[in-house]
Amino acid sequence: MSIICSQKKSLEGIPKHIAIIMDGNGRWAKKRFLPRVAGHVKGVDVVRKTVESCKNMGVQALTLFAFSSENWRRPQDEVSFLMKLFLKALDAEVQRLHQEGIQLRVIGDTSKFSPDLVQVIQKAQTVTAGNTEFILSIAANYGGRWDVVQAANRLRQMPDTSNNPWTEDDLLPHLALSDLPDPDLFIRTGGELRISNFLLWQLAYAELYFTDTLWPDFDSISLNLAIDSFRKRERRFGHTTEQLNGLTGATN
Ligand code: IPE
Ligand code: IPE
Ligand code: MG
Repeated sequence: MSIICSQKKSLEGIPKHIAIIMDGNGRWAKKRFLPRVAGHVKGVDVVRKTVESCKNMGVQALTLFAFSSENWRRPQDEVSFLMKLFLKALDAEVQRLHQEGIQLRVIGDTSKFSPDLVQVIQKAQTVTAGNTEFILSIAANYGGRWDVVQAANRLRQMPDTSNNPWTEDDLLPHLALSDLPDPDLFIRTGGELRISNFLLWQLAYAELYFTDTLWPDFDSISLNLAIDSFRKRERRFGHTTEQLNGLTGATN
């Protein structure tokens, strides 16, 4: 059951849920002859502004890919910088997020994080848990395949009441973000045309938008361009255009 669908009416043409792969920090820094990590620092400012813009526009949920399950393969000093930056940013932002009615979630396998970071994540989630104005989810040590496997493992632990084969509806409640509507709009900055093991299940019917803009340069104009593109799409979900226009019957 979606907490968003049940509580709020969506604004005309505005996606309810946006998911973003924030890519291009390293290249942004390299272009300026700066260390890669300078791009990550700038990227945090852009996160703050993007949350604000999305909330002001009437978007209800934003899911950001901050660190993938594959990003451990990066140089050790970059990984440890990213972990420290994540901890610092969470710690610094939690009160402001709370005041603005934002619920913060972290999705991914947090068991691999340092106890300090786990503690800050837990605190941020607890403090903001009652907020429903806007749901901000940070995917950290997240992988779409990991998500499906952890959901299958959780389903396996449920008391099995029937011998019927499991269905999508059985697995769904165990996946990350299962209480939110699936992302309507997926954005990837940085020019790569791939999903990189992000929300594999949840993106099944998202509208995909790719931009060459590097994440540290992604501003409200860039966000508006993505939303404008989204508004021009016809979302058919398997139906025909004629069905959507009411010319012939749509079954679902
Ligand atoms: C995305 O930017 C941030 C993370 C993956 C943490 P990158 O660091 O991948 O930047 P590029 O792709 O190397 O420019
Ligand atoms: C995807 O970016 C992960 C995040 C933005 C956190 P990457 O830069 O790691 O993706 P690949 O490796 O180029 O596909
Ligand atoms: Mg990258």
